[in-house]
Amino acid sequence: MFTNLNIAFVGPGAMGEAMIAGVIRKGLAEPAALIAAGPRAERLEQLREAYGVRVALENAEAAAQADVVILSVKPQRLDKVLLGLRGSIRPGALVLSIVAGASIKKILSGLHHPIIVRSMPNTPAQIGEGITVWTASPDVSEEQREMTRQILGALGEQVFVEEETYLDMATALSGTGPAYVFLFMEAMVDAGVHLGFPRRIAEQLVAQTVRGSVDYYTRRDDPVHLARLRNEVTSPGGTTATALYYLEKAGFRTAISRAVWAAYERSIELGRGGKSHSPEQSGGEGDEVAGCL
Ligand SMILES: NC(=O)c1ccc[n+]([C@@H]2O[C@H](COP(=O)([O-])OP(=O)(O)OC[C@H]3O[C@@H](n4cnc5c(N)ncnc54)[C@H](OP(=O)(O)O)[C@@H]3O)[C@@H](O)[C@H]2O)c1
Repeated sequence: MFTNLNIAFVGPGAMGEAMIAGVIRKGLAEPAALIAAGPRAERLEQLREAYGVRVALENAEAAAQADVVILSVKPQRLDKVLLGLRGSIRPGALVLSIVAGASIKKILSGLHHPIIVRSMPNTPAQIGEGITVWTASPDVSEEQREMTRQILGALGEQVFVEEETYLDMATALSGTGPAYVFLFMEAMVDAGVHLGFPRRIAEQLVAQTVRGSVDYYTRRDDPVHLARLRNEVTSPGGTTATALYYLEKAGFRTAISRAVWAAYERSIELGRGGKSHSPEQSGGEGDEVAGCL
């Protein structure tokens, strides 16, 4: 429990709520020590009712009372939010950002405040099953690092890295990762429907196959290479061998490798403030996607 510490959540959206819920669930702080700040009174009222947290329509008002200020606004709102917060953060307070693509340098120069943690969570954080990679500026104390471990731990697993460049790598691998998994699952479900399964049954088969495979891999006392598990289900001349042949022939492994690398490059580019897309990357959404996962 962080006694006598106030935590402000600037950007009370899906991830902000996941963090509020996680912090309360883990008993890290009393609801009254949490302040949600955002522009919409209706949303704030929702959070106040659901969790008993305090709320503020002005970000600066919430930050001025906080020992930890969590930034969870969308990347395209960040510049304005940093400007609005400048001067209101307490001198020793920790700023913990989960904003995709926002570098420590950017936050530091926006706030004129040196105590910063940059992190990259992923979507399963919303049910406490995420994984968050984080790094800290040199001014973050050991006590604040421990606080960070606990706050991010409320979203699932957390991994500290010394170098900020790993944050761009994490963005491409674990941050964006759920989308790759969902696409893979969607393709499996569609293949099942193509075979003749009702969609509901195909979805159940695929979801439990993925869940069970992950547990089979992770819940072992003896770590094992993934290729060994794959070989276990690959009989000579059998169905798996045939399916794997076609996956490899279609460049499955290379496609994933290329996609992850492209996401990594895009993360670096967005971190530099780049907005242009290559035709292959363009979703046609212009600035709205800048800095987003
Ligand atoms: N979702 C994920 O899985 C995920 C994973 C990794 C990182 N992230 C990062 O987490 C951040 C939040 O993502 P999200 O999915 O939680 O987005 P979200 O649900 O859209 O939440 C953003 C929140 O910010 C509020 N907001 C807008 N303008 C604001 C302002 N000027 N001051 C304070 N709050 C403001 C929004 O309020 P209104 O709704 O009233 O406009 C909304 O509540 C993003 O930077 C994203 O890159 C998200």
